[in-house]
Amino acid sequence: MKLVYLAASAAVWSICAFTKQAETPKTAVLTNLAVATADQKAVVVSKEDAVKRGEYLVTIMGCADCHAPKKMTPQGPAPDMDRFLSGHNSSQPLGTFDKSILKTGEWVVFNGQSTAFAGPWGMSFAANLTPDATGIGSWSFEQFNTAMRKGKFKGLENSRPLMPPMPWFNYVNMADEDMRAIFAYLKSIKPVSNVVPSYIPPAP
Ligand code: HEC
Repeated sequence: MKLVYLAASAAVWSICAFTKQAETPKTAVLTNLAVATADQKAVVVSKEDAVKRGEYLVTIMGCADCHAPKKMTPQGPAPDMDRFLSGHNSSQPLGTFDKSILKTGEWVVFNGQSTAFAGPWGMSFAANLTPDATGIGSWSFEQFNTAMRKGKFKGLENSRPLMPPMPWFNYVNMADEDMRAIFAYLKSIKPVSNVVPSYIPPAP
């Protein structure tokens, strides 16, 4: 009987020992991650990592929903990758609609590409975010930061406010590394020459 007990307790001990051993590396991994996270803030991330993170953020934040012209697919409109993030395509005719529906201020109208938007604010056109001269090619990070956090056209302090539906107020508290990552990614994509039409204030 005693022997059985001993054998059983030995088994329990070895299980405990095994569990302990198994736990140790887990804790070590967690500690390493924490250190890595703390380090990442201090150390400048590599350019490739920033571009990757920027691509991820631009995707999950849906910038292309407005900033990319669309192509029709069996699933509905999808970003046209040849003109990715190049804003409202100025070479495509705008099309017409009954402007009287805007008068009441009750309706907002999107064009079929979801790049031109009419509403109580007038008519706005999604900007060209590619690194072409007609996009953000000559922009500094400070300009981008000002556009994104303060909603200023071209990121210039004295310029007009950015109009809906650009949701810049959602980006005010974005972590600085993320803002830089998005900028790095946008600077890395294919430049597309496209002068987006100017904003049209509401008819009096
Ligand atoms: C719901 C539509 C929509 C979404 C989503 C959106 N934007 Fe915009 N964005 C616009 C429109 C429209 C304008 C032009 C506003 C104007 O001219 O007043 C604009 C303007 C901008 C500008 C200013 C360009 C300039 O020339 O001043 C920047 C920068 C910008 N968007 C970046 C982004 C980024 C980056 C994202 C994703 C994180 C994003 N936008 C998401 C619609 C959108």
